[in-house]
Amino acid sequence: MTRNNTREDWWKQAVVYQVYPRSFYDTNGDGLGDIKGVTARMDYLRELGVDAIWLSPFYPSPLVDGGYDVADYRDVDPRLGTLEDFDEMAAAAHAAGIKVVVDIVPNHTSTEHEWFKAALAAGPGSPERDRYVFRRGRGEHGELPPNGWRSTFGGPGWEPVGDGDWYLHLFAVEQADLNWKNPEVREDFKKTLRFWSDRGADGFRIDVAHALAKDLESRPLDEWPDDPDQDHPGAENPLWDRPEVHEIYRAWRQVFNEYEPARFAVGEAWVVPEHQWRYASTDELGQVFNFELAKANWMADEMRRAIEEGLDSAERSGSTTTWVLSNHDVVRHATRYGLPQVKSAAHHQLANDWLLRGGRSYHEDRELGARRARAALLMELGLPGSVYLYQGEELGLFEVADIPWDALEDPQAVMTAHGDAIKGRDGCRVPLPWEAEKDDFGFSAPATHAPAHLPQPAWFAAYAVDAEEADEHSMLHYYRRALKLRAELLTATGDTSLTWTDGYGDQVIAYRRPTADGRALTCVTNFGPVPVGLPAGEVLLASAELSSDGKLPTDATAWVIR
Ligand code: GLC
Ligand code: CA
Repeated sequence: MTRNNTREDWWKQAVVYQVYPRSFYDTNGDGLGDIKGVTARMDYLRELGVDAIWLSPFYPSPLVDGGYDVADYRDVDPRLGTLEDFDEMAAAAHAAGIKVVVDIVPNHTSTEHEWFKAALAAGPGSPERDRYVFRRGRGEHGELPPNGWRSTFGGPGWEPVGDGDWYLHLFAVEQADLNWKNPEVREDFKKTLRFWSDRGADGFRIDVAHALAKDLESRPLDEWPDDPDQDHPGAENPLWDRPEVHEIYRAWRQVFNEYEPARFAVGEAWVVPEHQWRYASTDELGQVFNFELAKANWMADEMRRAIEEGLDSAERSGSTTTWVLSNHDVVRHATRYGLPQVKSAAHHQLANDWLLRGGRSYHEDRELGARRARAALLMELGLPGSVYLYQGEELGLFEVADIPWDALEDPQAVMTAHGDAIKGRDGCRVPLPWEAEKDDFGFSAPATHAPAHLPQPAWFAAYAVDAEEADEHSMLHYYRRALKLRAELLTATGDTSLTWTDGYGDQVIAYRRPTADGRALTCVTNFGPVPVGLPAGEVLLASAELSSDGKLPTDATAWVIR
C-alpha cells in the first residue's frame, strides 16, 4: 500500500500529531522536554500511525507564553537543543515516514527579539520602531494609552516605553505586535519560511493567522471600540480577520511553491466559519483549523452543525478541512465531555470557567468523559480532511485541574482587578507520563533529574504509556487500531465524499464514506439514551461494547463496513 504521505497533497488527508515539545520527553534531565526527546520517541509516533507531527514553538524564547513569544525565528532554544538536533529529528521523522510541521508566530515577537531591543534604543519615529505598532500616547505628556484596546490575555493592549510612545500587544506585554505594512517584516518572514523549508520542514502552522493586518489609519484611534470582537470580522474590525491579511498569505504561497513538493500551511484563525475557507484556499495557506468541533457540546445537533460547517468550508476553499478536538489552548476533551453540557454555550469556554473555580461548581465525570472521547474519535476519524491530535489524548488524559497557583506558567493565570481568577491553559500542558513506576512517570530519561516543569498528578500512573501498552483495552491501543483502519480504508482512497445517512432520528449522527477496497464504511454515533440498531455489515470497530442484541448504546460510535 502506498502510504498516504508519499503523495504530494498528503496534508489534505493527514493525521497530524501536535507535540508540545517542553512537555513531551526530556532527554537530559532538566525537567523540560527537548528536541532530542522527539527523536527518541519517533518509534512511538510511528507505531501510533500518525502522518505528521506539528511542533509547537521550540525557538529561543523567554517562555512568557510557552514559546509563543519568539526571540529568534531561525534557531532552537538552547534549553531545547540545537539546530543539529532539529536536523536529526527531521531526518528521523522522515525515515519513519512522518512529515514535520513547524509553528510560525508572525503576529508578534518577544520583546527580547533583537528588533524590539533596537526599536527601544532607536526612539520615536525611527525605522526600527516602524517594524512594530508604536503610537504616541494621549494626554499632555503621552501618559494615556492611544486608545482603550485590550489584550486578549486581560489588561490593556498598549504598553508605554517611557518616551511618550506606546506599543501594541494583543497578547502578553512581552509579545509586541509586528507592523505587517512594513516591507522588512514581510521579507523577514519569507526568509524564515525558506529557512525551515530548507531544513526539512514539510509545512507550517500559522499562529493567530487572522490578526496580522490591522487598521490604525482609517479613523482616529480613539474612535474604535475598546474590544473589537473577533467574531465580527471584515473591514469594520481594526484588528481581526481583515481582508488585507489575505495578501500576505498569497505572497507566502509563492514561497511554498518554490519547493517540490510545495509546502503547505494550516492557519490558526478563530474566525467565523463563513470566513475560514479564504485562509485555506489553494492560493493561500492550503488549510485552516476548523475549531467548530472543539467548540461544540457533546450533542448531536451541535456536532452535526460543526461537521457541516467544516465540509462547507472545505468545498468553498477547494481544499480539505481539519478536525480538532483538543490542542494546547483548550481544556482536554475527555474532561470537557465529562462536564455538564450546556446548550449553545461555547463549550471550551465553559470548561475553562470550570477550571477557574478549581472544579468546585461542577463535577467531572471521568468515566463519561472517557467514553465520549472514544466515541468522538471514531466520529472524527471517519470524516474527510485532516485530523489534528494533541499529545496525550491518545492516552485518554484528562485536564489537570488542580495545579497549585504558584506552579502555573501560563500568562493567563493572573488575578484580575475583579478578583476573578483565570487558571489558564497549563492543565493540558503537563509533561507526558511514559512509565507508571517512575517518580516523574519517566518524563526525564536520566535517573537523576530536575522536577518536571509542571507538576504531574498521581493519577497519571494509570495513563502512562507502558501501562496502556500492557492493556489491550487501553485508549492507546484503541487509537492505534482506529488510525490504522482509517489509513487503510479511508485515506488510501483519496475520495473525500461523504453521504449523510438519515433515518436514525435526531440523537444520532451517521454518515457513509467510500473505502479503498470498493466498499462503504458507515460511521454511526449515538448521543441519545436509547440504543440504536446498526446497518447491515461487519462491525469493524466500536468505541463501546454493543448490547447483546447488537445495538449501539448511548455515547458510542461504531464503524460498519459493507
Ligand atoms: C495562539 C497560540 C497560543 C498563544 C497565542 C499567542 O493562539 O495557540 O498558545 O498564546 O497564539 O501567540
Ligand atoms: Ca531537557
